[in-house]
Amino acid sequence: MHEPIHIDSRWAQRLRRGEQPDAAEVREHLLAVHQRHAGFTEGVARGCRDAAGRNSYEWLAEVIDPARHRTILDLACGSGVLAEICLQRHGDAIELIGIDMSADELALARRRIPDPGCRLHQALAQSMECIPDAGVDLVLCHWALTLMDPIEPVLAEIRRILRPQGTLAAIIDGDIASSPSYAAVHDVIYSAAQHEYPSYANADLGDARVRAPESLAALIRQTFRDAEVRIEPGMVSLDGAPQTLAEEATGFFYASFVLSAHARARALAEVARVLSADAGSDGLGRFDMPIHRLVAQL
Ligand SMILES: C[S@@+](CC[C@H](N)C(=O)[O-])C[C@H]1O[C@@H](n2cnc3c(N)ncnc32)[C@H](O)[C@@H]1O
Repeated sequence: MHEPIHIDSRWAQRLRRGEQPDAAEVREHLLAVHQRHAGFTEGVARGCRDAAGRNSYEWLAEVIDPARHRTILDLACGSGVLAEICLQRHGDAIELIGIDMSADELALARRRIPDPGCRLHQALAQSMECIPDAGVDLVLCHWALTLMDPIEPVLAEIRRILRPQGTLAAIIDGDIASSPSYAAVHDVIYSAAQHEYPSYANADLGDARVRAPESLAALIRQTFRDAEVRIEPGMVSLDGAPQTLAEEATGFFYASFVLSAHARARALAEVARVLSADAGSDGLGRFDMPIHRLVAQL
């Protein structure tokens, strides 16, 4: 559970005035969110499981083929959950590198995976000088490509560091329309954000093309030319008492971190109401999170 402390970054202040933030302000805002709420992604994503019992980290880690993937990069590794799963599954058979721009997230990853399990670097995905050309067999990226703007330099860097026959695999947003509970929570939080920040709708984090499978596949093909691109839909869910579920589901949305304490409390009550409307006879509600798994094979 996270403190309802809202982030009053320059990004947020601009949006409140109805202005558009620049790229540096977006990055500064992301860093502030991850400083105050380090590890918040795993707080929700680890518990959300699909029909086969896998969370999205585990689904992504299934792409690893130790016969072909020796050096693996966890791009935007955050608090290191995915890296830990990779090591638990493949141990000495792989060499793992983690990159993130947030020192606070990396501090959690370092605590979770002491050296020499994984080499961790603080860097931007747009300039990964710490990795040589063709130095990696597989780039994994769990829930972070959608935040990266500009995205083209990130894809160019991934292409540069991948070996021939290398693979990029990522978990990205799914189709909102495929989950009524996700759509409802999304609408409550975004309309609260829109109410406090008039230009919020035009200033979502990341490049919108990464959120839709068709435009993402087109972007990847621009950089990866002859790559085989597969984008598979998935659904992971969380069950719980509506109030607890509301806290967890709300905390997954970056927009929730810019709400004032009052607006956040109102949004939480509304999310709990929405989730309890579909609760079963045991009183438990369900939050279904649609996801996509991208696999681009060179
Ligand atoms: C939603 S979190 C996901 C963290 C982790 N992959 C997970 O799923 O638990 C997004 C992460 O992307 C990182 N990030 C965002 N933009 C980045 C960039 N341009 N370069 C490097 N890291 C970035 C953030 O610091 C944050 O740790």
